[in-house]
Amino acid sequence: MRTHACGEVGVKDTGTTIKIAGWTNKWRDHGGVVFIDLRDRSGLVQVVFSPEIDAEIHKAAHRIRNEFVIQVEGEVRHRPEGTVNPSIPTGQVEVVAKKFDVLNECKALPFMVDDETDASESLRYKHRYLDLRRPVIQKNIIIRHKAARAFREYLDSKGFLEIETPMLTKSTPEGARDYLVPSRTNPGHFFALPQSPQIFKQILMVSGLEKYYQIVKCFRDEDLRADRQPEFTQVDLEMSFIKREDIMALIEDMLKKAFRDAIGVEITEQFPRLTYHDAMERYGCDKPDLRFGLELKDVSDIVKASSFKVFLDTLSNGGIIKGLNAKGLAGYSRKDLDDLTKEVQGFGAKGMAWMKVKGTVESPIAKFFSEETLKTLVDTFDAKEGDLLLFVADKVKVANDCLSRLRNEMARRLGLIKDGVYKFTWITDFPLFEWNDDEKRYEAMHHPFTSPMGEDIEKFLSSDAVTANGRSPLQEIRAQAYDIVLNGYEIGGGSIRIHKKEVQDRMFQLLNISPEEADSKFGFLLEALEYGAPPHGGIALGLDRLVMIMAGASSIRDVIAFPKTQKAVCPLSDAPSTVDPKQLKELSIKLDIAE
Ligand code: AMO
Ligand code: AMP
Repeated sequence: MRTHACGEVGVKDTGTTIKIAGWTNKWRDHGGVVFIDLRDRSGLVQVVFSPEIDAEIHKAAHRIRNEFVIQVEGEVRHRPEGTVNPSIPTGQVEVVAKKFDVLNECKALPFMVDDETDASESLRYKHRYLDLRRPVIQKNIIIRHKAARAFREYLDSKGFLEIETPMLTKSTPEGARDYLVPSRTNPGHFFALPQSPQIFKQILMVSGLEKYYQIVKCFRDEDLRADRQPEFTQVDLEMSFIKREDIMALIEDMLKKAFRDAIGVEITEQFPRLTYHDAMERYGCDKPDLRFGLELKDVSDIVKASSFKVFLDTLSNGGIIKGLNAKGLAGYSRKDLDDLTKEVQGFGAKGMAWMKVKGTVESPIAKFFSEETLKTLVDTFDAKEGDLLLFVADKVKVANDCLSRLRNEMARRLGLIKDGVYKFTWITDFPLFEWNDDEKRYEAMHHPFTSPMGEDIEKFLSSDAVTANGRSPLQEIRAQAYDIVLNGYEIGGGSIRIHKKEVQDRMFQLLNISPEEADSKFGFLLEALEYGAPPHGGIALGLDRLVMIMAGASSIRDVIAFPKTQKAVCPLSDAPSTVDPKQLKELSIKLDIAE
């Protein structure tokens, strides 16, 4: 039906007659001449319907409306002097229509198919087929395709096998809420959709398949955010007879290829590494954005010499005082600072203290500090004239969390976040356990199949779960786990696994999971581990997040063809929906919904 793609028509084609087909991007009538931009996946080209060339066609062109599907036969010519449009690749030429066909019409549009849109998300998703026509979104879908292809090519070249794992399965260990599927043939029994293929990929290693990968949907019923969807895609892999370094080197190489293939970006530097401890210390979180500095400093030891009650009380309650230098912002007014304080309180802090470096230190709390202490603070932050120091005093977790968010916010305000910059980092040496204060027990920080560090194995095997003061040597045990972080997003995580039954049993014991519970949840893996499991490990990358960053999008919803809204619904298909009572009866399910 066509000889050329719209976006590929160019000066080289002038004088020739071509056939193109696509959607009417824009219809306009200029001084008796009708112009349309015809759009297909490749881009757009201007088509002219002139009464001087063909009166009949010109007249007929008046019935075309936006998004009509048309086929045009016409001659390519240079645009007249002064009408060249340098902002589109086909902007030097136009197609003079000699013949055209309306292949299909289009109803009045709920919103314009345009890169810029103010249509609401629910309207866009209800008509996602129109939304997906927008070139910005198509660009993202194409980047996603290229990235997925790069991963497949790379892993294939390294001898990985693409193996599918079940979707109707049992709960996996990632710890989010499951999506359940009732079994008709086994009344009262449910499948869980996998939160990841974790258990099956480990079993594939026990099976001797050695190198597995899959680009796979995972399902987690969590609270949604810009970087979280209830169903998302992992580039999931697992290998036998490897060490942590092997996986990290492989992933680094693979990500570099994906950036090259998908967006033409050459990442040359070796990915830096930060231990979890250092990341928390310097950035307050385990997914720091390294496109900018603004490092946090723990000033607890310095400010204990002050007489500022808020700080002293925090310290005596076991908390810390940390801060950062918002460079050059000493010009902030009282109102700016009050507003910023409110924002930080919104993150969960009780308050925020500030000091301006303006000749001396200007601050409502300066009077509680000696000259000498103030100087030490200024030096610690390497603060110069015109800088602004911001402090939060709180429990370690709260102070870190609030300051890491404040750090991102200040970087945004200072214009330190540049597009097209990609800063990767590995986070290593995670703690194996995390204390759950609500449930008063340890949880696995990654998942319970993660192996402790070799050096820490003695402690792992011998320590008591909790000592009298609620602290335990368990907290110091590090895991052979690693996350890969890009521009402040966790884009992947993995670990070397436990491959010995006794170690796995001990892990469950420390997590306060009874042998019966472990058996009912993960018994099939635990048994497999007893039949000659090789040392193995793996990782999963979050494809949606990665492509979001590649595409410069602000939400993973913009890189997923059919995303769910913030409320986890699909406005296009109207899922989830109620079902026929007959279906429920077949499933032996009675609903009990509170009004
Ligand atoms: P983890 O739970 O860290 O590890 O998941 C791996 C990566 O998947 C992405 N991700 C998500 N992306 C979008 N929406 C979500 N709701 C979501 N949840 C996670 C993140 C994350 O880094 N089985 C282990 C991997 C392993 O140990 O090999 C796992 O699933 O980018
Ligand atoms: P207040 O005692 O609440 O009047 O606070 C005195 C100063 O200490 C104000 O500048 C507060 O913003 C600041 N402040 C209060 N709580 C904290 C906190 N948790 N961390 C840092 N600064 C705080």
